[in-house]
Amino acid sequence: THKIIFDTDPGIDDAMALLFIEASPDLDLLAITTIYGNADIETTTRNALYLKQRFGLTAPIYKGTEKPLTRPRNPSPTFVHGENGLGDVELTGLVPAQPEAKPAHQAIIDIARQYPGEVTLVAVGPLTNLALALQADPEVTRLLKAVVIMGGAFGLAGKPGNVTPVAEANIWNDPEAADQVFTAPWPLTAVSLDVTTQVVMSPTYMDALEASAGPAGQFLNAISKPYAAFYGERDGVVGCCVHDAAAAAYVIDPSLFSVRRGSVRVVTEGIALGQTCQKAEGELFGPSAWDDLPIQAVTVAVDEAGLLKLYAETMR
Ligand code: BDR
Ligand code: CA
Repeated sequence: THKIIFDTDPGIDDAMALLFIEASPDLDLLAITTIYGNADIETTTRNALYLKQRFGLTAPIYKGTEKPLTRPRNPSPTFVHGENGLGDVELTGLVPAQPEAKPAHQAIIDIARQYPGEVTLVAVGPLTNLALALQADPEVTRLLKAVVIMGGAFGLAGKPGNVTPVAEANIWNDPEAADQVFTAPWPLTAVSLDVTTQVVMSPTYMDALEASAGPAGQFLNAISKPYAAFYGERDGVVGCCVHDAAAAAYVIDPSLFSVRRGSVRVVTEGIALGQTCQKAEGELFGPSAWDDLPIQAVTVAVDEAGLLKLYAETMR
């Protein structure tokens, strides 16, 4: 099994990923760290605490930072994830609860030190907690086994950005943090919009999930409806794109994906703010700021049917 820290901004597809991780016999969830993104940090942390209580998770929850490294926080996309971050379904019966006292980035460092070389950090929100961990303890890059993020839009397959024509939301929410995370010397894979837009849970799939996956299936079908409605109206997608759960699926079965290896930079100013660009390994250009950087993997293709099957079978 893979020891996991899950850094998340729940978030409808974050909730889909979290319950999938919890259900997977291949993943051992050590901690949940929260980040602003789909809603503010108070809301995403409350949602993580809610999901923990409602579905009996045991992993501790550490609250992350409330804002990007250097810029003001973008407004919450309530038109995608609702005012409450979970599709505005009623969140009943939450017993008041607090996250752990330690901040998220310190928890990442301490858990990485506790299990050197064993922990995979799966990050599916803005990358600010990861950048703070890098700044506080650069050795975290060799203490973690791997970093898998949902983020980026490389234009290598599928459609490009989802918040601007070139930028994906998690990167766009903190481009400076993302650039630090991509250029740090840890083994990183970006499960990007290029592939996550190619994995769609149809309404029929969600109904089947509701029938087969018990209370979690019922809850996920309910929260997915406004999310699917948004993507349907904007992009003509019938169903929900599986963004965040695809990053967890990568940890379980990387053979579902093909990747391109190379150095990655993030645009941190101008009209292309938040765009992710990769220079493929071995590609020859003149000298540039893509040279002498760590080689990271970016997904370029996905086995949609295989991923949907893995998700449904894990949740059953
Ligand atoms: C990513 O942005 C968030 O809205 C989703 O939860 C996902 O992590 C997709 O661009
Ligand atoms: Ca997310």
